[in-house]
Amino acid sequence: MLKGVASTTVNKLLKAGFTTIQAVAMTPAREIAELVGMGSDTAVKVCRLARMHVDPGFVPALEILDMRQHMVKCNTGSQELNRILGGGVETGAITELIGEFGSGKTQICFTLAVTAQQPVEEGGYGGNVCVIDTEGTFMPERIMQIAEERGLDSTKILEGILIARAYNSEHQIILINSLPELVEKSGIKLVIMDSMIGHFRGEYIGRGTLAERQQKLGSCLSKLLRVAEAFNISVVLTNQVLSTPDTMYGDPNKPTGGHVMAHACTHRVFLRRGRQNTRLARVIDSPSLPEEKIRFAITAAGIVDADEE
Ligand code: GTP
Ligand code: MG
Repeated sequence: MLKGVASTTVNKLLKAGFTTIQAVAMTPAREIAELVGMGSDTAVKVCRLARMHVDPGFVPALEILDMRQHMVKCNTGSQELNRILGGGVETGAITELIGEFGSGKTQICFTLAVTAQQPVEEGGYGGNVCVIDTEGTFMPERIMQIAEERGLDSTKILEGILIARAYNSEHQIILINSLPELVEKSGIKLVIMDSMIGHFRGEYIGRGTLAERQQKLGSCLSKLLRVAEAFNISVVLTNQVLSTPDTMYGDPNKPTGGHVMAHACTHRVFLRRGRQNTRLARVIDSPSLPEEKIRFAITAAGIVDADEE
């Protein structure tokens, strides 16, 4: 019935009348624990796994409140960047880093791979990190440098990071599908996808393939969002920009992925190169934060405030 759930648990669920995954997904974990007579931890786990398979539709507002109360915000390395993100990179959401090459997307991911492993009291998630690398740019040496510059045990930091290299979009989809089990088993609190759409753009060329590409991309993104919500973890994606030279006003660089990408991502951070090693960041399309431009710097310690260099 449900991958990752012991058969004895499945039998208990069946006996209590939970004959479909839908039924499990739509019942609050607390109720499942009572009705089935199982521990609340098991009930929460079963409920999460079930919700990965079906869209529970309406969820009690109390559960949403509960989820928001358990939201954790991770330090990006720059207080200014944290500030425009409303305190840091949130759990239960997808954060998208958008920018041209060299704008600092991967460097932010590297820094988060270190800071996310710090205890919650120190601005982290106190958990492990999983990286899906589609571009072959994941550098363990750079992670070690960032950790050491921050006075941390670099070997321990590397031990807390699981990396998978995705060779094409099909492979990337398989890796995304394996996330629920991995997150549960390996105590992952942050999933990094660098980049989300590089393979899709490279493989689906021409107008005729656009609909299929967007449909596959949309399905990947909705799975990622469900993992983020169900396990209260954070998903960080990178995205390139598309230059539209015919733009008369405003920024000619647009994020790729169109509306599918725009709708799936809770927070969108637009990055640009500034003077020397500084970068400019602004949060776009935020439902709750004013648009403001800040400056950060890329240093040996990863991302820091621009005046700290
Ligand atoms: P693409 O993946 O090509 O789209 O770019 P990106 O946005 O991921 O760029 P990335 O985050 O890799 O930023 C690259 C920039 O980071 C380089 O131009 C360097 O200036 C800077 N950088 C990379 N490594 C180091 C380092 O070890 N020390 C310092 N100080 N800066 C670095
Ligand atoms: Mg990169």
